Amino acid sequence: MANIIVVGAQWGDESKGKIVDYLTPAADMVVRYGGGNNAGHSVMVGSELYKLHLVPSGILHSQVTCVLSDGVVIDPGVLVSEIEGLKARGVSFAKFLISASAHVILPYHCLFDRLNEERRGSDKIGTTGRGVGPAYSDKAARIGIRMGEFIDPARFEARLKVVLEEKNSILTQVYGAEPLSLASIIAEYRAYAEALKPYVAHIAPIVYQAAKSGKGVVFEGAQGTLLDLDLGTYPYVTSSHPIAAGACLGTGVGPLMIDGVIGIVKSYTTRVGAGVFPTEQLNEIGEYIRERGHEYGTTTGRPRRCGWLDAVVLRYASQVNSLTCISTGHLDVLAGLESVKICTAYKTNEGETLQDLPWDLSFREDIEPVYETLPGWGEEVSKARTWDQLPVNARAYIERIESLTALPAGMVSVGPGREETIVRELVLSAALKSRR
Ligand code: IMO
Ligand code: MG
Repeated sequence: MANIIVVGAQWGDESKGKIVDYLTPAADMVVRYGGGNNAGHSVMVGSELYKLHLVPSGILHSQVTCVLSDGVVIDPGVLVSEIEGLKARGVSFAKFLISASAHVILPYHCLFDRLNEERRGSDKIGTTGRGVGPAYSDKAARIGIRMGEFIDPARFEARLKVVLEEKNSILTQVYGAEPLSLASIIAEYRAYAEALKPYVAHIAPIVYQAAKSGKGVVFEGAQGTLLDLDLGTYPYVTSSHPIAAGACLGTGVGPLMIDGVIGIVKSYTTRVGAGVFPTEQLNEIGEYIRERGHEYGTTTGRPRRCGWLDAVVLRYASQVNSLTCISTGHLDVLAGLESVKICTAYKTNEGETLQDLPWDLSFREDIEPVYETLPGWGEEVSKARTWDQLPVNARAYIERIESLTALPAGMVSVGPGREETIVRELVLSAALKSRR
């Protein structure tokens, strides 16, 4: 197999986990390249649902190595309990690695995440509150603590002592909050460090070797293109790089090692948290999608905002990620609607038509989506296992997405289960072909 990046093409929650799980058996390695436990990736095996936040979605295949790379920020307590929970269900961690260079989320990160949001008031980002943004801020400010230091008791204590002094002065003097205790953090986190120590390694050379000579590596993105710190709808974004380029940040490979990039697309759009959402449906259509699609956050349980598919977003995702194909999912959710809509462009108040996403979309109150209406399809879609078994209108809908994005749909997902997947073998293998 090739080296493939699996990237969210929208605002996250596109079912990247399901597609990573599907692609894993043909690979040597799965590398989660960004985000933290703000992510929620679901893998459904029979009637068993696995909700993953940090552990890569390839973990259910014991022969494949799963890696958390430098780009991931790790809450040690959360990771330990995720590993324990999965082990209790028989999942093997014999081939699991954590980058020594990955940054650690500590209690003050979670605290600052909450305090920052409170301070923003009505302009809050709607973060997941998991300390992810503050941990990446510390990384950029060069005061972060990395896994390799964390698992060494003396180094951890020495680093934490210095950092905590600064954090505590901000907590007490800026926020009027209580300071955190060095001793109690050390006491709690020492156990996590012991539990995680066996997995910590210098992963860059290991990933490089797997990508160079093995069957292939699947790079698992978290979040989505429009949540990217640089290219997303800033400031209502996450603090990392969900885009495909993120797979080359801190994993050990450069861009020429990548053979294909698959953009995961929901057949409609959702967003959690605050920020612009041009095709949002604050009406019975939005409700229909939310209820049928169980559109409630895997991580926070928040109801997701729902709306029509936005092809402007998808074209943008195609460009900035170098997508070679897409996987369209959740077709079953839209089933039963008389007609469905796709946003093909934006129109401004001045009557100008925009084909491309504006850089300041978050602040553009003058734009409206231009819709195209297509006929809907019936309920039988989740039983389809081949392209031909899909209702003709569902096929036409996907074909319209293909033409609006100039990308082939290599996979079509008609439900959360592994078997509820239509693979267009020829399309997929051409889009994800090894170039080495
Ligand atoms: P997966 O991997 C959807 C959103 C949050 C918020 C913004 C910033 O499951 O697709 P953060 O806690 O990252 O500082 O919050 O980003 N967000 C996600 N939305 N899916 C995710 O991950 C997300 N991870 C973060 O809701 O709007
Ligand atoms: Mg999620």
